[in-house]
Amino acid sequence: MQDKQIKQTKQFVFDEHGHDTTGHDFNHILRVQRMALYIGKQFPSCNLFILQMVALLHDVADHKLADTHTALKKIQAFLESIEVPSNDRSEILSIIPQISYSAQTPLDQLSIEAKIIQDADRLDALGAIGIARAFAYGGATGQKMASDEDFELDHVAQNETSVGHFYDKLFKLPDTLHTSSAKKIANQRIKIMYKFIEIMDKEWKGVDYLEKGNIL
Ligand code: ADP
Ligand code: NI
Repeated sequence: MQDKQIKQTKQFVFDEHGHDTTGHDFNHILRVQRMALYIGKQFPSCNLFILQMVALLHDVADHKLADTHTALKKIQAFLESIEVPSNDRSEILSIIPQISYSAQTPLDQLSIEAKIIQDADRLDALGAIGIARAFAYGGATGQKMASDEDFELDHVAQNETSVGHFYDKLFKLPDTLHTSSAKKIANQRIKIMYKFIEIMDKEWKGVDYLEKGNIL
């Protein structure tokens, strides 16, 4: 029964944001589900059904519908239509709004499922995929790739460029993770991001090919 409900939820989510181009496409959702399951299996107290359902639904409320309240009502109606029991339903609906980075839910109010999904969602903003998503987001919202200031030594956060977003948020994400397995993956994924910025900085300034002091 639960396997069937997870399958039905995948279809519902695909219909909701199958065509998103801001980094919240369906594959983001599938990666978050898989990562959450990987971490969740390490915690015997974690309810893997609730975990997967929230992982699948976590961005529907945030990005696709007019407002969170309307979105949660739609999710509730959907959960009723596939006969998810009412106690599971209320748990799913109470965790969904807690997941997003901006929700800032106090730590002691987060269930183990919420913590794991937050970790999985944040891990998907790191690594090679995290780099791709930052520039995809920038393209979709008409934001610049970078500005000269992004590559200054003090790395002043620029806010309005994709490279600025690395300093504003992405490089800080590993410290916000809850589980040790997510931290381990983040430490691996963050390396390529630092390396990427280091190389982009060199290419931006031309120092990858200009000899020192060689002025064109
Ligand atoms: P969530 O999946 O938690 O809702 P966001 O909506 O904040 O996360 O971000 C979704 C993706 O878009 C992430 O990969 C994030 O790095 C990227 N993103 C969000 N804001 C910006 C920005 N201002 N510049 C570049 N990328 C961004
Ligand atoms: Ni997400």
